[in-house]
Amino acid sequence: MRIVFIGPPGAGKGTQAERMIATYGLAHLSTGDMLRAARDARTEVGQKAEQYMSAGQLVPDDIIVAIIRDRLGEPDCRRGYLLDGFPRTIAQAEALDQMLASEKTPLDVVLELRVPDDELFQRLAGRGRADDKPEVIRQRLVAYRQQTEPLLDYYGKRGLLKTIDGLGTPDDIFERIRAVLGGVAA
Ligand code: AP5
Ligand code: MG
Repeated sequence: MRIVFIGPPGAGKGTQAERMIATYGLAHLSTGDMLRAARDARTEVGQKAEQYMSAGQLVPDDIIVAIIRDRLGEPDCRRGYLLDGFPRTIAQAEALDQMLASEKTPLDVVLELRVPDDELFQRLAGRGRADDKPEVIRQRLVAYRQQTEPLLDYYGKRGLLKTIDGLGTPDDIFERIRAVLGGVAA
């Protein structure tokens, strides 16, 4: 299966991704994790990305698309993958569509994890990543609303979107995801 996971900061994408990759044997492609690894390794891309991440802004599309293009070419992606946090803009979604069309490997489903803002703030306040300061969380949410939410309509029109209620225990939410994926052709 080839899955895109969309949701605001703190929605639980990473938490559910761990369960999904273990259950379905997917590669986990988290652009946030890749950028943090690049930052920690002090690569040029990592240092450039850090300026945006620490401000709660999206990293420029050309950087992200290049990272994903390389990663999708690795052999573990052939068995299927979960894109966690990519695409996040219409331009990224269009670039992904082009890559997948040329390989004839379309997406199977786009999962939206929906969680109200007050719950997102509570969850992230309890975690403490470098970008989990309240003012940065606010900016990450603005970026989500303005740049990423339009993707719901983009994928909705293509008949790929499934929305999942992201409130409840992680196990409850995973059951909802399993129910949806059970209805998606493998
Ligand atoms: P990224 O790393 O993708 O962060 P994010 O989208 O802001 O989301 P998080 O990772 O914070 O939350 P999550 O949904 O994974 O939730 P989690 O499971 O951790 O991106 C970071 C930055 O990188 C961006 O701001 C941007 O700068 C850059 N970037 C990344 N991708 C990019 C792209 N494509 N284009 C441009 N820039 C990009 O859970 C959160 C907390 O809640 C945890 O403490 C968890 O334990 C808890 N929790 C989880 N589930 C539950 C539950 N059901 N109940 C209670 N608590 C829960
Ligand atoms: Mg995450």
